[in-house]
Amino acid sequence: MAEDLMTKIVSLCKRRGFIFQSSEIYGGLQSCWDYGPLGVELKNNVKRLWWNAVVKERDDVAGMDASIIMHPKTWEASGHVENFSDPMVDCKKCKQRFRADSVQGKQCPDCGGELTEARQFNLMFKTFMGPVEDATAVVYLRPETCQAIFVNFQNVVTATRLRIPFGVAQIGKSFRNEITPRNFTFRLREFEQMELEYFVREEEAPKWFEYWVEERRKWYGEMGIRPESLRLREHGKDELAFYAKRCIDVEFKFPFLEGGYGELEGIANRGTYDLSQQMKFSGADLQYLDKEKNERFTPAVVESSGGVDRSILALICDAYHEEEVVGETRVVLRFKPKVAPIKIAVLPLSKKAELCEPARAIERMLRPHWETFYDETQSIGKRYRRMDEVGTPYAVTFDFDSINDKQVTVRDRDTLKQVRLPIDNLMKFFEDLFRRGAWE
Ligand code: GAP
Repeated sequence: MAEDLMTKIVSLCKRRGFIFQSSEIYGGLQSCWDYGPLGVELKNNVKRLWWNAVVKERDDVAGMDASIIMHPKTWEASGHVENFSDPMVDCKKCKQRFRADSVQGKQCPDCGGELTEARQFNLMFKTFMGPVEDATAVVYLRPETCQAIFVNFQNVVTATRLRIPFGVAQIGKSFRNEITPRNFTFRLREFEQMELEYFVREEEAPKWFEYWVEERRKWYGEMGIRPESLRLREHGKDELAFYAKRCIDVEFKFPFLEGGYGELEGIANRGTYDLSQQMKFSGADLQYLDKEKNERFTPAVVESSGGVDRSILALICDAYHEEEVVGETRVVLRFKPKVAPIKIAVLPLSKKAELCEPARAIERMLRPHWETFYDETQSIGKRYRRMDEVGTPYAVTFDFDSINDKQVTVRDRDTLKQVRLPIDNLMKFFEDLFRRGAWE
Protein backbone atom coordinates (compact mmCIF):
# COMPACT_ATOMS: atom_id res chain seq x y z
CA MET A 1 0.00 0.00 0.00
CA ALA A 2 2.69 2.49 1.09
CA GLU A 3 4.90 1.55 -1.88
CA ASP A 4 1.94 1.97 -4.16
CA LEU A 5 1.21 5.42 -2.73
CA MET A 6 4.84 6.51 -3.08
CA THR A 7 4.95 5.30 -6.69
CA LYS A 8 1.90 7.48 -7.38
CA ILE A 9 3.44 10.49 -5.63
CA VAL A 10 6.79 10.15 -7.43
CA SER A 11 4.95 9.80 -10.73
CA LEU A 12 2.77 12.87 -10.06
CA CYS A 13 5.85 14.89 -9.12
CA LYS A 14 7.48 14.07 -12.44
CA ARG A 15 4.34 14.34 -14.61
CA ARG A 16 3.32 17.71 -13.25
CA GLY A 17 6.78 19.26 -13.02
CA PHE A 18 7.49 19.20 -9.28
CA ILE A 19 10.55 16.94 -9.07
CA PHE A 20 12.68 15.22 -11.72
CA GLN A 21 15.52 12.73 -11.33
CA SER A 22 18.81 14.58 -11.84
CA SER A 23 20.53 13.89 -15.19
CA GLU A 24 17.74 11.51 -16.12
CA ILE A 25 18.74 11.26 -19.79
CA TYR A 26 22.02 9.69 -18.63
CA GLY A 27 20.28 7.18 -16.40
CA GLY A 28 20.04 9.53 -13.43
CA LEU A 29 22.45 10.47 -10.66
CA GLN A 30 21.68 8.68 -7.44
CA SER A 31 20.23 10.83 -4.68
CA CYS A 32 20.25 14.05 -6.63
CA TRP A 33 16.90 15.48 -7.75
CA ASP A 34 15.87 18.57 -9.71
CA TYR A 35 12.91 20.81 -8.94
CA GLY A 36 10.81 21.54 -12.03
CA PRO A 37 8.64 24.57 -12.83
CA LEU A 38 6.12 23.92 -10.05
CA GLY A 39 8.68 22.41 -7.68
CA VAL A 40 10.79 25.55 -7.65
CA GLU A 41 7.71 27.67 -6.81
CA LEU A 42 6.79 25.30 -3.98
CA LYS A 43 10.37 25.37 -2.73
CA ASN A 44 10.54 29.17 -2.86
CA ASN A 45 7.27 29.35 -0.90
CA VAL A 46 8.61 27.03 1.81
CA LYS A 47 11.84 29.01 2.13
CA ARG A 48 10.02 32.35 2.13
CA LEU A 49 7.56 31.19 4.80
CA TRP A 50 10.45 29.96 6.96
CA TRP A 51 12.40 33.19 6.43
CA ASN A 52 9.30 35.27 7.29
CA ALA A 53 8.63 33.33 10.49
CA VAL A 54 12.24 33.04 11.67
CA VAL A 55 13.84 36.30 10.45
CA LYS A 56 11.52 38.90 8.94
CA GLU A 57 8.73 38.92 11.49
CA ARG A 58 11.14 39.04 14.46
CA ASP A 59 13.43 41.75 15.75
CA ASP A 60 15.86 39.35 17.46
CA VAL A 61 17.05 37.33 14.43
CA ALA A 62 19.32 38.45 11.57
CA GLY A 63 19.89 36.57 8.35
CA MET A 64 22.99 35.74 6.36
CA ASP A 65 24.10 33.84 3.27
CA ALA A 66 27.59 32.36 3.41
CA SER A 67 29.73 30.67 0.79
CA ILE A 68 29.48 26.91 0.50
CA ILE A 69 33.23 26.36 0.56
CA MET A 70 34.80 27.39 3.83
CA HIS A 71 38.32 27.28 5.25
CA PRO A 72 39.04 23.57 5.85
CA LYS A 73 39.96 24.26 9.49
CA THR A 74 36.26 25.03 10.08
CA TRP A 75 35.56 21.33 9.68
CA GLU A 76 38.42 20.27 11.92
CA ALA A 77 37.01 22.56 14.60
CA SER A 78 33.46 21.29 14.17
CA GLY A 79 34.62 17.68 14.42
CA HIS A 80 33.47 16.77 10.90
CA VAL A 81 36.93 15.83 9.58
CA GLU A 82 37.42 13.35 12.39
CA ASN A 83 33.93 12.18 13.25
CA PHE A 84 31.44 12.80 10.45
CA SER A 85 31.44 9.25 9.22
CA ASP A 86 29.26 6.18 9.00
CA PRO A 87 30.48 2.59 9.41
CA MET A 88 30.33 0.88 6.00
CA VAL A 89 30.66 -2.66 4.69
CA ASP A 90 31.62 -3.64 1.13
CA CYS A 91 30.54 -6.69 -0.82
CA LYS A 92 33.65 -8.59 -1.96
CA LYS A 93 31.76 -9.99 -4.95
CA CYS A 94 29.62 -7.18 -6.48
CA LYS A 95 31.58 -4.31 -4.84
CA GLN A 96 28.42 -2.60 -3.56
CA ARG A 97 28.84 -0.54 -0.39
CA PHE A 98 26.24 -0.46 2.41
CA ARG A 99 25.80 1.31 5.71
CA ALA A 100 26.68 -1.32 8.30
CA ASP A 101 23.43 -0.69 10.17
CA SER A 102 21.35 -1.29 7.03
CA VAL A 103 22.40 -4.93 6.53
CA GLN A 104 21.98 -7.95 8.75
CA GLY A 105 24.59 -10.69 8.96
CA LYS A 106 27.67 -11.09 6.76
CA GLN A 107 25.98 -11.50 3.36
CA CYS A 108 25.39 -8.90 0.65
CA PRO A 109 21.63 -8.21 0.43
CA ASP A 110 21.95 -7.82 -3.37
CA CYS A 111 24.08 -10.78 -4.54
CA GLY A 112 24.66 -12.86 -1.40
CA GLY A 113 28.44 -12.28 -1.57
CA GLU A 114 30.61 -12.01 1.53
CA LEU A 115 30.78 -8.60 3.23
CA THR A 116 33.96 -6.98 4.59
CA GLU A 117 34.34 -5.84 8.21
CA ALA A 118 32.85 -2.39 8.87
CA ARG A 119 35.09 0.61 8.08
CA GLN A 120 34.51 4.30 8.75
CA PHE A 121 33.61 6.34 5.68
CA ASN A 122 33.64 10.15 5.88
CA LEU A 123 30.50 11.74 4.47
CA MET A 124 32.03 15.06 3.40
CA PHE A 125 32.54 15.80 -0.30
CA LYS A 126 36.16 16.74 -0.87
CA THR A 127 37.58 18.84 -3.67
CA PHE A 128 40.64 21.00 -4.40
CA MET A 129 40.93 24.76 -4.42
CA GLY A 130 43.31 26.36 -6.90
CA PRO A 131 45.40 24.79 -9.65
CA VAL A 132 47.34 22.23 -7.60
CA GLU A 133 45.57 19.05 -6.53
CA ASP A 134 47.52 18.14 -3.41
CA ALA A 135 46.78 17.78 0.30
CA THR A 136 47.32 21.48 0.99
CA ALA A 137 44.56 22.41 -1.49
CA VAL A 138 41.83 20.17 -0.04
CA VAL A 139 38.53 21.90 0.72
CA TYR A 140 35.08 20.52 1.46
CA LEU A 141 31.54 21.22 0.32
CA ARG A 142 29.86 22.15 3.59
CA PRO A 143 27.89 19.31 5.21
CA GLU A 144 25.79 21.80 7.22
CA THR A 145 25.16 25.54 6.96
CA CYS A 146 25.46 26.44 10.64
CA GLN A 147 29.26 26.55 10.93
CA ALA A 148 29.29 29.70 8.75
CA ILE A 149 27.08 31.34 11.37
CA PHE A 150 29.50 30.43 14.18
CA VAL A 151 32.59 31.68 12.36
CA ASN A 152 30.78 34.94 11.53
CA PHE A 153 29.45 35.42 15.07
CA GLN A 154 31.57 38.48 15.87
CA ASN A 155 30.96 40.05 12.43
CA VAL A 156 27.20 39.84 12.94
CA VAL A 157 27.35 41.20 16.49
CA THR A 158 29.44 44.16 15.37
CA ALA A 159 27.35 44.86 12.28
CA THR A 160 23.93 44.57 13.89
CA ARG A 161 24.48 45.44 17.55
CA LEU A 162 22.00 42.70 18.43
CA ARG A 163 21.95 41.97 22.18
CA ILE A 164 21.73 38.51 23.64
CA PRO A 165 19.40 36.60 23.30
CA PHE A 166 19.48 36.81 19.50
CA GLY A 167 19.66 34.52 16.52
CA VAL A 168 21.35 34.26 13.14
CA ALA A 169 19.60 32.31 10.40
CA GLN A 170 20.56 30.97 7.03
CA ILE A 171 19.08 28.90 4.20
CA GLY A 172 21.47 27.14 1.86
CA LYS A 173 22.77 24.02 0.19
CA SER A 174 24.59 21.31 2.11
CA PHE A 175 26.28 18.19 0.79
CA ARG A 176 26.73 14.73 2.28
CA ASN A 177 28.05 11.68 0.52
CA GLU A 178 25.27 9.52 1.93
CA ILE A 179 25.59 5.80 1.38
CA THR A 180 22.55 3.77 0.38
CA PRO A 181 20.46 6.86 -0.10
CA ARG A 182 16.85 6.02 -0.86
CA ASN A 183 13.26 7.09 -0.49
CA PHE A 184 12.91 9.76 -3.14
CA THR A 185 14.09 13.11 -1.76
CA PHE A 186 14.27 12.02 1.89
CA ARG A 187 18.01 11.30 1.96
CA LEU A 188 19.92 13.35 -0.59
CA ARG A 189 23.55 13.98 -1.38
CA GLU A 190 22.83 17.62 -2.22
CA PHE A 191 20.07 19.24 -0.19
CA GLU A 192 19.03 22.50 1.37
CA GLN A 193 18.94 23.35 5.05
CA MET A 194 17.16 26.10 6.99
CA GLU A 195 19.17 26.70 10.15
CA LEU A 196 18.77 29.09 13.04
CA GLU A 197 21.45 29.48 15.71
CA TYR A 198 19.97 31.29 18.70
CA PHE A 199 22.64 32.63 21.07
CA VAL A 200 21.77 32.82 24.75
CA ARG A 201 23.29 32.85 28.23
CA GLU A 202 24.08 29.26 29.11
CA GLU A 203 21.78 29.24 32.14
CA GLU A 204 18.88 30.41 29.95
CA ALA A 205 19.39 27.79 27.22
CA PRO A 206 16.87 25.24 28.66
CA LYS A 207 14.10 27.87 28.57
CA TRP A 208 14.90 28.92 24.98
CA PHE A 209 15.15 25.29 23.93
CA GLU A 210 11.53 24.72 25.06
CA TYR A 211 10.50 27.94 23.32
CA TRP A 212 12.01 26.98 19.95
CA VAL A 213 10.64 23.42 20.03
CA GLU A 214 7.15 24.88 20.35
CA GLU A 215 7.73 27.61 17.73
CA ARG A 216 9.01 25.13 15.22
CA ARG A 217 6.25 22.57 15.83
CA LYS A 218 3.72 25.36 15.31
CA TRP A 219 5.36 26.40 12.02
CA TYR A 220 4.83 22.99 10.43
CA GLY A 221 1.16 23.17 11.48
CA GLU A 222 0.82 26.64 9.96
CA MET A 223 2.23 25.28 6.70
CA GLY A 224 -0.75 22.93 6.63
CA ILE A 225 0.75 19.66 7.87
CA ARG A 226 -1.95 17.88 9.87
CA PRO A 227 -1.23 17.46 13.59
CA GLU A 228 -1.78 13.69 13.35
CA SER A 229 1.09 13.45 10.82
CA LEU A 230 3.59 15.14 13.16
CA ARG A 231 5.25 14.15 16.39
CA LEU A 232 8.07 15.35 18.63
CA ARG A 233 10.72 12.81 19.61
CA GLU A 234 13.33 13.46 22.27
CA HIS A 235 16.79 11.98 21.70
CA GLY A 236 17.91 9.40 24.22
CA LYS A 237 21.24 9.84 26.04
CA ASP A 238 22.90 7.36 23.65
CA GLU A 239 21.86 9.42 20.58
CA LEU A 240 22.99 12.83 21.85
CA ALA A 241 26.29 14.32 20.71
CA PHE A 242 28.59 14.46 23.76
CA TYR A 243 28.30 18.26 23.98
CA ALA A 244 24.52 18.47 23.45
CA LYS A 245 22.30 18.87 26.47
CA ARG A 246 19.01 18.03 24.77
CA CYS A 247 17.69 17.42 21.28
CA ILE A 248 14.12 17.02 20.05
CA ASP A 249 13.25 16.09 16.48
CA VAL A 250 10.11 17.22 14.71
CA GLU A 251 9.11 14.08 12.83
CA PHE A 252 6.63 13.44 10.03
CA LYS A 253 4.81 10.19 9.30
CA PHE A 254 6.28 9.40 5.88
CA PRO A 255 4.36 6.63 4.08
CA PHE A 256 7.55 4.88 2.91
CA LEU A 257 9.55 4.69 6.14
CA GLU A 258 9.74 1.60 8.26
CA GLY A 259 8.48 2.60 11.69
CA GLY A 260 6.56 5.43 10.03
CA TYR A 261 8.21 8.58 11.28
CA GLY A 262 11.24 10.42 9.87
CA GLU A 263 13.07 13.57 10.96
CA LEU A 264 12.10 16.91 9.44
CA GLU A 265 14.12 19.02 11.81
CA GLY A 266 16.20 18.83 14.98
CA ILE A 267 16.09 21.39 17.78
CA ALA A 268 19.14 21.12 20.03
CA ASN A 269 20.67 22.78 23.04
CA ARG A 270 24.32 22.58 21.93
CA GLY A 271 25.79 24.44 24.87
CA THR A 272 28.91 26.54 24.20
CA TYR A 273 30.63 23.83 22.15
CA ASP A 274 30.41 25.36 18.66
CA LEU A 275 31.76 28.82 19.44
CA SER A 276 34.39 27.38 21.80
CA GLN A 277 35.69 25.00 19.12
CA GLN A 278 35.87 27.69 16.42
CA MET A 279 37.69 29.95 18.90
CA LYS A 280 40.14 27.20 19.80
CA PHE A 281 41.03 26.38 16.17
CA SER A 282 41.10 29.96 14.79
CA GLY A 283 42.44 31.86 17.77
CA ALA A 284 39.73 34.48 17.13
CA ASP A 285 37.68 35.98 19.93
CA LEU A 286 34.09 34.81 19.51
CA GLN A 287 33.01 35.81 23.00
CA TYR A 288 30.18 38.19 23.70
CA LEU A 289 30.56 41.37 25.71
CA ASP A 290 27.58 42.35 27.84
CA LYS A 291 28.32 46.06 28.15
CA GLU A 292 25.66 46.73 30.80
CA LYS A 293 27.01 44.07 33.12
CA ASN A 294 30.58 44.48 31.90
CA GLU A 295 30.75 40.75 31.48
CA ARG A 296 32.45 38.72 28.73
CA PHE A 297 31.32 35.14 28.07
CA THR A 298 30.87 32.43 25.43
CA PRO A 299 27.20 32.19 24.56
CA ALA A 300 25.40 28.87 24.41
CA VAL A 301 23.42 28.06 21.29
CA VAL A 302 19.96 26.65 20.73
CA GLU A 303 19.79 25.36 17.18
CA SER A 304 16.83 24.70 14.94
CA SER A 305 18.00 22.77 11.89
CA GLY A 306 15.47 21.79 9.25
CA GLY A 307 15.60 20.45 5.72
CA VAL A 308 13.89 22.25 2.83
CA ASP A 309 13.61 19.08 0.76
CA ARG A 310 12.16 17.02 3.59
CA SER A 311 9.61 19.75 4.36
CA ILE A 312 8.56 19.71 0.70
CA LEU A 313 8.29 15.93 0.65
CA ALA A 314 6.21 16.01 3.84
CA LEU A 315 3.94 18.73 2.41
CA ILE A 316 3.36 16.73 -0.77
CA CYS A 317 2.75 13.42 1.08
CA ASP A 318 0.39 15.08 3.56
CA ALA A 319 -1.51 17.00 0.89
CA TYR A 320 -2.00 13.99 -1.41
CA HIS A 321 -5.60 12.75 -1.47
CA GLU A 322 -7.60 10.50 -3.73
CA GLU A 323 -11.37 10.82 -3.59
CA GLU A 324 -14.51 9.86 -5.48
CA VAL A 325 -16.23 12.74 -7.29
CA VAL A 326 -19.28 11.87 -9.41
CA GLY A 327 -18.10 8.33 -9.99
CA GLU A 328 -14.52 9.30 -10.86
CA THR A 329 -11.36 9.27 -8.78
CA ARG A 330 -9.87 12.70 -8.40
CA VAL A 331 -6.33 13.23 -7.16
CA VAL A 332 -5.92 16.43 -5.22
CA LEU A 333 -3.02 18.06 -3.41
CA ARG A 334 -4.61 19.94 -0.55
CA PHE A 335 -1.88 22.57 -0.18
CA LYS A 336 -2.70 25.61 1.89
CA PRO A 337 -3.03 28.61 -0.47
CA LYS A 338 0.18 30.18 0.88
CA VAL A 339 2.13 27.02 0.03
CA ALA A 340 0.52 26.26 -3.36
CA PRO A 341 2.74 26.97 -6.39
CA ILE A 342 -0.23 28.27 -8.41
CA LYS A 343 -2.86 30.22 -6.49
CA ILE A 344 -5.46 30.91 -9.21
CA ALA A 345 -6.17 29.15 -12.50
CA VAL A 346 -8.02 31.15 -15.15
CA LEU A 347 -9.96 28.95 -17.56
CA PRO A 348 -12.18 29.93 -20.47
CA LEU A 349 -15.01 27.41 -20.76
CA SER A 350 -14.02 26.64 -24.35
CA LYS A 351 -11.33 27.58 -26.83
CA LYS A 352 -13.54 30.12 -28.64
CA ALA A 353 -11.88 33.51 -29.13
CA GLU A 354 -14.78 35.41 -27.51
CA LEU A 355 -14.05 33.50 -24.27
CA CYS A 356 -10.25 33.29 -24.48
CA GLU A 357 -9.59 37.00 -24.97
CA PRO A 358 -11.50 38.22 -21.87
CA ALA A 359 -10.19 35.24 -19.82
CA ARG A 360 -6.63 36.25 -20.72
CA ALA A 361 -7.41 39.83 -19.68
CA ILE A 362 -8.58 38.54 -16.26
CA GLU A 363 -5.41 36.52 -15.90
CA ARG A 364 -3.30 39.59 -16.73
CA MET A 365 -5.21 41.55 -14.07
CA LEU A 366 -4.54 38.92 -11.37
CA ARG A 367 -0.97 37.96 -12.36
CA PRO A 368 0.89 40.88 -10.69
CA HIS A 369 -0.72 39.96 -7.35
CA TRP A 370 -0.83 36.13 -7.25
CA GLU A 371 0.74 33.19 -9.07
CA THR A 372 -1.76 32.49 -11.84
CA PHE A 373 -2.06 29.98 -14.65
CA TYR A 374 -4.04 30.33 -17.86
CA ASP A 375 -5.20 27.18 -19.63
CA GLU A 376 -7.53 26.77 -22.61
CA THR A 377 -6.61 23.24 -23.72
CA GLN A 378 -8.91 20.18 -23.38
CA SER A 379 -12.26 19.97 -21.60
CA ILE A 380 -13.01 22.12 -18.57
CA GLY A 381 -13.33 18.92 -16.44
CA LYS A 382 -9.82 17.78 -17.40
CA ARG A 383 -8.41 21.25 -16.68
CA TYR A 384 -10.02 21.30 -13.23
CA ARG A 385 -8.50 17.87 -12.51
CA ARG A 386 -5.05 19.05 -13.61
CA MET A 387 -5.28 22.05 -11.30
CA ASP A 388 -6.50 19.81 -8.42
CA GLU A 389 -3.52 17.52 -8.98
CA VAL A 390 -1.03 20.37 -8.57
CA GLY A 391 -2.87 21.83 -5.60
CA THR A 392 -4.22 25.08 -7.13
CA PRO A 393 -6.77 26.30 -4.56
CA TYR A 394 -8.97 28.46 -6.82
CA ALA A 395 -10.11 28.49 -10.44
CA VAL A 396 -11.89 31.28 -12.29
CA THR A 397 -14.02 30.22 -15.25
CA PHE A 398 -15.18 32.54 -18.00
CA ASP A 399 -18.22 31.12 -19.84
CA PHE A 400 -20.68 32.28 -22.51
CA ASP A 401 -22.89 34.07 -19.95
CA SER A 402 -19.83 36.00 -18.78
CA ILE A 403 -19.74 37.88 -22.10
CA ASN A 404 -23.03 39.62 -21.28
CA ASP A 405 -23.33 39.58 -17.50
CA LYS A 406 -19.61 40.34 -16.88
CA GLN A 407 -19.54 37.71 -14.15
CA VAL A 408 -17.29 34.66 -13.69
CA THR A 409 -17.44 31.47 -11.63
CA VAL A 410 -14.88 30.95 -8.87
CA ARG A 411 -14.35 27.32 -7.78
CA ASP A 412 -12.85 26.12 -4.51
CA ARG A 413 -10.52 23.10 -4.92
CA ASP A 414 -11.40 21.40 -1.63
CA THR A 415 -15.14 21.89 -1.19
CA LEU A 416 -15.85 22.16 -4.94
CA LYS A 417 -18.16 25.05 -4.03
CA GLN A 418 -18.68 27.65 -6.74
CA VAL A 419 -19.71 31.30 -6.59
CA ARG A 420 -20.66 33.65 -9.36
CA LEU A 421 -19.02 37.08 -9.08
CA PRO A 422 -18.80 40.31 -11.08
CA ILE A 423 -15.36 40.54 -12.72
CA ASP A 424 -15.03 44.00 -11.14
CA ASN A 425 -15.19 42.39 -7.67
CA LEU A 426 -12.60 39.66 -8.34
CA MET A 427 -9.57 41.52 -6.99
CA LYS A 428 -11.32 42.40 -3.74
CA PHE A 429 -12.71 38.85 -3.44
CA PHE A 430 -9.25 37.26 -3.72
CA GLU A 431 -7.59 39.85 -1.48
CA ASP A 432 -10.08 38.92 1.27
CA LEU A 433 -9.79 35.20 0.55
CA PHE A 434 -5.99 35.11 0.73
CA ARG A 435 -6.00 37.29 3.84
CA ARG A 436 -8.34 34.78 5.54
CA GLY A 437 -6.35 31.84 4.12
CA ALA A 438 -9.51 29.78 3.50
CA TRP A 439 -12.81 29.95 1.63
CA GLU A 440 -15.05 30.02 4.71
N1 GAP B 1 23.53 21.54 12.06
C1 GAP B 1 22.86 20.37 12.50
C2 GAP B 1 22.51 19.46 11.43
O1 GAP B 1 22.92 19.60 10.29
P1 GAP B 1 21.21 17.24 10.95
O2 GAP B 1 20.22 16.52 11.82
O3 GAP B 1 22.37 16.46 10.44
O4 GAP B 1 21.67 18.49 11.83
C3 GAP B 1 19.39 18.80 9.94
O5 GAP B 1 20.44 17.90 9.74
C4 GAP B 1 18.29 18.59 8.92
O6 GAP B 1 18.81 18.63 7.60
C5 GAP B 1 17.57 17.23 9.02
O7 GAP B 1 16.54 17.26 9.99
C6 GAP B 1 17.03 17.06 7.62
O8 GAP B 1 15.80 17.76 7.46
C7 GAP B 1 18.08 17.74 6.77
N2 GAP B 1 19.00 16.71 6.22
C8 GAP B 1 20.11 16.20 6.80
N3 GAP B 1 20.69 15.29 5.99
C9 GAP B 1 19.92 15.22 4.88
C10 GAP B 1 19.98 14.47 3.66
N4 GAP B 1 20.98 13.62 3.42
N5 GAP B 1 19.01 14.64 2.74
C11 GAP B 1 18.00 15.54 2.95
N6 GAP B 1 17.90 16.28 4.06
C12 GAP B 1 18.84 16.13 5.02
